[in-house]
Amino acid sequence: MLAISLVFLLLATVSAGKHDQYSGYSVHGIKLRTQSDKAFIEELTQSLDLDVWQVGNPESRDAQLMLSPEDRVAVLDDLDKHGLEHYLHVADVAKVLEAHEKEVNQWKQSRSGRLMPFNDYPRYEEVDAYLEQIAAQYPELVTLVNAGQSFEGRDIKYLKISTTNFTDTSKPVYFMDAMMHAREWVTTPVTLFSIHRLVEDLRDLDRDLLEDIDWIILPMTNPDGYEYSHTDVRLWRRTRSINLEVSTECVGVDANRNFDVNWNTTGVSQNPCSDVYPGTAPFSESETRIVRDIIAENLNRMEIFMNIHSHGNWVLYGFGDYTLPDNVIQLHVLSAAMGAAMDALKLPAAEWYKIGNSAMILYTDSGSAADYGQYVGVPFSLTLELPGYGNGFLVPPQYIEHINFETWEGIAVSARLARSFYRARQ
Ligand SMILES: *[C@@H]1O[C@H](CO)[C@@H](O)[C@H](O)[C@H]1NC(C)=O
Ligand SMILES: *[C@@H]1O[C@H](CO)[C@@H](O)[C@H](O)[C@H]1NC(C)=O
Repeated sequence: MLAISLVFLLLATVSAGKHDQYSGYSVHGIKLRTQSDKAFIEELTQSLDLDVWQVGNPESRDAQLMLSPEDRVAVLDDLDKHGLEHYLHVADVAKVLEAHEKEVNQWKQSRSGRLMPFNDYPRYEEVDAYLEQIAAQYPELVTLVNAGQSFEGRDIKYLKISTTNFTDTSKPVYFMDAMMHAREWVTTPVTLFSIHRLVEDLRDLDRDLLEDIDWIILPMTNPDGYEYSHTDVRLWRRTRSINLEVSTECVGVDANRNFDVNWNTTGVSQNPCSDVYPGTAPFSESETRIVRDIIAENLNRMEIFMNIHSHGNWVLYGFGDYTLPDNVIQLHVLSAAMGAAMDALKLPAAEWYKIGNSAMILYTDSGSAADYGQYVGVPFSLTLELPGYGNGFLVPPQYIEHINFETWEGIAVSARLARSFYRARQ
């Protein structure tokens, strides 16, 4: 009896305490007046390894920083000293995480049986089952590829969708991937919905997208991190690789700083516990090697690589060190067309999409997936940051359907432009 009550007690503490590590953490909005305010926040963030909930832009978008109880007083003092106006956005992150978890569970329960994986936050197994099912159901159109394993041994699978089994060289390849960063839950549904609209629910108006383009869709680049964000730490971002020579305390690498382009130069931290730790070498992570290999294998026809993240309403192109690709005009045209298509369908609560060079309008970085694609020769290699509606990474599940719908329209526009540019270079 005692043993049983003890077990109960333990279970109760574990579930009640799941988000305790964020107890007392707060999120603060900061009004930015100038580029130098923005640079100041970027420096502050890097020097203290702060978690950025939102990157701000002068006069148009407030920055949001998460602060631990230990950092709070000093950081807020620093902001005051610089004359920066700030306000409390989230008083207790642990409480917000609990409410979000409840909301996600209720969403699943209230729709059980009617829920498609793309209208939900599906677990790894559910995504895997969906890919298997689509491949089995549409063998003429869809090829399932098991690209290798994550650090913890999960299969990382993607679909190739093609009416000509990737044999027609007059077609461009469109590659999209999602969930490189674990906490960005709404990214995977967008890729699953794209599969759905291309295969299960193709509309007459979209027939050209299926017939003229070969698609590679990788819904979950970092499954270990994603599962961990469900079971343990909702705000986990990195992979889950263990390297005891580097750290016995922290695991994982920022996959989006681990690609071999300007690697370990800017926008990274040497602290292995940091969310922008780039790893011990380029491609130290099996997850990033898989993306690298997909690009290499299809490079002669890959016209576009869309690396999908959440959140912030951005379409970004390289490079993260302020240098611009030679085809920057076309990159800007395509990105802007995509952003405009999504803005036309936006909900009132969403930000307008911002388009541009990632260093100029977001922050400097190195070793990113999109920069790598651009660097090795994909003409349109982009980072897409989906809407967060003021909820950061914790996008309420009620928004998933709308994000899927508006993003698909943006993807369609980018795909048609990519097709034109591909034909022009042939
Ligand atoms: C497509 O080509 C691959 C070889 O590249 C082959 O294994 C596969 O069976 C083909 N699929 C279809 C539907 O023809
Ligand atoms: C990354 O760059 C820093 C600063 O230049 C350097 O000290 C460090 O050794 C580099 N890390 C690796 C693994 O090369």
